[in-house]
Amino acid sequence: MSYRRALTLVAGGSAVLALAAVAADSRWCFGQQPREAAGCWSRVPVLQAAQPAWTHGSHTPSTNGQWDFNWDKRDPSALSNGKKKESATEDPSSEQDNSKPKATRNILLIRHSQYNLSGSCDKERILTPLGREQAELTGQRLAALGLKYDVLIHSSMARATETAHIISKHLSDPDVALVSCDLLREGAPIEPVPPVTHWKPDAVYHEDGARIEAAFRRYIHRADPKQKEDSYEIIVCHANVIRYFVCRALQFPPEGWLRMGLNNGSITWLTIRPSGRVALRTLGDAGFMPPEKLTRT
Ligand SMILES: *[C@@H]1O[C@H](CO)[C@@H](O)[C@H](O)[C@H]1NC(C)=O
Ligand SMILES: *[C@@H]1O[C@H](CO)[C@@H](O)[C@H](O)[C@H]1NC(C)=O
Repeated sequence: MSYRRALTLVAGGSAVLALAAVAADSRWCFGQQPREAAGCWSRVPVLQAAQPAWTHGSHTPSTNGQWDFNWDKRDPSALSNGKKKESATEDPSSEQDNSKPKATRNILLIRHSQYNLSGSCDKERILTPLGREQAELTGQRLAALGLKYDVLIHSSMARATETAHIISKHLSDPDVALVSCDLLREGAPIEPVPPVTHWKPDAVYHEDGARIEAAFRRYIHRADPKQKEDSYEIIVCHANVIRYFVCRALQFPPEGWLRMGLNNGSITWLTIRPSGRVALRTLGDAGFMPPEKLTRT
């Protein structure tokens, strides 16, 4: 974890978030076996101890309809006002240039396909035959788009892992890395507005919210200045996670996540420009599936 990133994380949120992000950054979420989220997160007891910074909307910049260009804390003009510019030996303009992002990131968020709801634990909740067909269709669609994919990241839950493995078979480049991540597991990101009565207790938002916000900060940000070419990154995860990411990325109130619906196997495409501008290209696109393959229940 770089010094700057550590700083911006501490500046950008509570100590809780910094901690969650340290866990994410130390490859803690890579290459792990699927397991229940409660187990992994109980290793971070402070998560339950502190009040998350975002539960009262404090992470939602109160910009009165303005766009906060430094939403990901990677705006070079905001950074160069800090202490970093002290060194007299370097030409400040070239330093600024080297720290400027140049590439555009395209993030394709895929909702896992249909799975067996009667499974009693995550491992048993595997894809149904229709779910596997949906994943094939999503894989074919991603291949047909003809983009040069850089990485395929997936939630470590069984249904997302299975969907990702089926998709990866369709990508023309067999070397696209498959990365499993615990931060992307399904959960309750924040109490929805308007509220739903049957929904989860506060404690769940408290814990899942910290993790899903950490996932957002880890994956949804403008390109690193070192990135030379535009990237296309596939993330296979879950409906709540994707809806929360979309609200946060567009600087919409995150409490609104439950107002959107996403089909199984659908594609949600976010584009993040080097300037920090964000565009939602598609939300839950499943138009490439024949109607009889769409799941509605
Ligand atoms: C779904 O899971 C349940 C419980 O594991 C199992 O009994 C059932 O056969 C499964 N159904 C399908 C379609 O796989
Ligand atoms: C997707 O499938 C899951 C079960 O696998 C189901 O609960 C959900 O409602 C489906 N989504 C849609 C939009 O049909």
